[in-house]
Amino acid sequence: SVDRRLLCEAGEVAPGGMLRVQLEGMDPLLVCNVDGKLYAVDDECTHAIASLSEGRLQGNIVFCPLHGGSFDVCSGKAKSLPCKQALRTWPIEVTDGKVYLLLK
Ligand code: FES
Repeated sequence: SVDRRLLCEAGEVAPGGMLRVQLEGMDPLLVCNVDGKLYAVDDECTHAIASLSEGRLQGNIVFCPLHGGSFDVCSGKAKSLPCKQALRTWPIEVTDGKVYLLLK
């Protein structure tokens, strides 16, 4: 069965915006709004210790604040050096204006 955990209200993440969400017992997640559609990925950069929420989102690409590497937040793929390892992506669902993380 699938366990749903509330991440945030959909209205908290405007188009082009990002929100860091820390759920108990989990690594921090980053909810991103790409042209009205929401995506969730790990918030910590895979290159070193940095919170991507402090970087910049341009379309579907998030730029790390520390060394400027980037990721596609839709696929998680690393897009520019020094980032090489993909970000983990997380399935979410938006119901009645609330964003849920889906856990198996
Ligand atoms: Fe993100 Fe280095 S920590 S690019």
